[in-house]
Amino acid sequence: MRWWDIEAVLALERELFPDDAWSRGMFWSELAHARGPGATRHYVVAREDDRIVGYAGLAVSGTASDDGSDAPVADVQTIAVARDHWGTGLGSRLLTDLLRAATSFECGEVLLECRIDNVRAQKLYERFGFETIGVRRGYYQPGNVDALVMRLTDPSAPTTP
Ligand SMILES: CC(C)(COP(=O)(O)OP(=O)(O)OC[C@H]1O[C@@H](n2cnc3c(N)ncnc32)[C@H](O)[C@@H]1OP(=O)(O)O)[C@@H](O)C(=O)NCCC(=O)NCCS
Repeated sequence: MRWWDIEAVLALERELFPDDAWSRGMFWSELAHARGPGATRHYVVAREDDRIVGYAGLAVSGTASDDGSDAPVADVQTIAVARDHWGTGLGSRLLTDLLRAATSFECGEVLLECRIDNVRAQKLYERFGFETIGVRRGYYQPGNVDALVMRLTDPSAPTTP
């Protein structure tokens, strides 16, 4: 994803996350950290012809402490597929790309939050080996919807989505 993709991404974002869409500024800020030697973000778009039909992003931060490892931790910041492409495997391809990026950042684990009512996304993550490790009460506002916190412990391990 580059800055010139942001308008098309924003249109999809508003359609797919009507309650809590990211702002233009949030995408600009993420992309500002996505290039160069100190990059901590990886953002990707999927195109069909000239149309953007999906996008995803990963952030790398801190270090895992509970297992004593110094490896950085990756967070899935966002993943979305245009509705008319759902069920075609595109979500799986985007997630595969993020996990490859997590591996090249040498992350020991990948975390994400997912709305508790977003069963479709949870199934996608579970197919890749993510497990639920906690619940954040009222994480999504408005609506006071809980988030599941999910974790994949070895992003470099082969997956069978
Ligand atoms: C969640 C989301 C990214 C999933 O994307 P997707 O492209 O539908 O995901 P996939 O196609 O890889 O997987 C969905 C289904 O298609 C099936 N599928 C995978 N590859 C396939 C293929 N090549 N052909 C046909 N079906 C396939 C999968 O088995 C899966 O079925 P299941 O749900 O019964 O297990 C998408 O629904 C979305 O953008 N939702 C709105 C935004 C959102 O909620 N994002 C997540 C926030 S936590």
